Amino acid sequence: MSTVPASSNERAHAVAEAAERRWTIIVAIIITALIGMMIVTGLHWAAMPPSRVETVDVSRLHIEGEFVESNLGTALESDGRVVVRVLAQQYSFQPQCLVVPAGMPVTFRGTSSDAIHGFSVDSSNANTMLIPGFVATFTTTFPAVGEHLMPCHEYCGIGHEAMWARVQVIPQQEFLARTRNQGRLSCVRS
Ligand code: CUA
Repeated sequence: MSTVPASSNERAHAVAEAAERRWTIIVAIIITALIGMMIVTGLHWAAMPPSRVETVDVSRLHIEGEFVESNLGTALESDGRVVVRVLAQQYSFQPQCLVVPAGMPVTFRGTSSDAIHGFSVDSSNANTMLIPGFVATFTTTFPAVGEHLMPCHEYCGIGHEAMWARVQVIPQQEFLARTRNQGRLSCVRS
């Protein structure tokens, strides 16, 4: 029975089956590689999930509450946390220059008063969107003293490319001494 040559139908069936098996293996390899990349980059960059949903009244941002001008910048809270409050608007961040301590957890809290903005701090995993009506928050640590650029990374209009701030990472002792003397910190030169 097996000595009879396979009919062309059976041959076609065998070819199709082999091709399907081959592609199943290729697709499985691609999916495994993609999941592997997600896991590796997520762990390597300590990628953070989107922050929880916290809303804020855009129409009253400048008048009252957490994001009034006098409350922006870096503060050492009474519970010992370092909190940076930042407001984005077309086309600048307020403050334009942030001061943070090296080697201490720093919590960012930010929002926008107009369009969707966002920022990332170079050489760090600080990266978030700033959406009107919502407070974006995350905590990160800057290991070393230095200066970083903080560009807006969501297209927000014609001035987008000129929208950026700086982050100054200073030694912990200097930071603590300055917050004792000055309270809220920024490195905006007046
Ligand atoms: Cu703000 Cu782009």
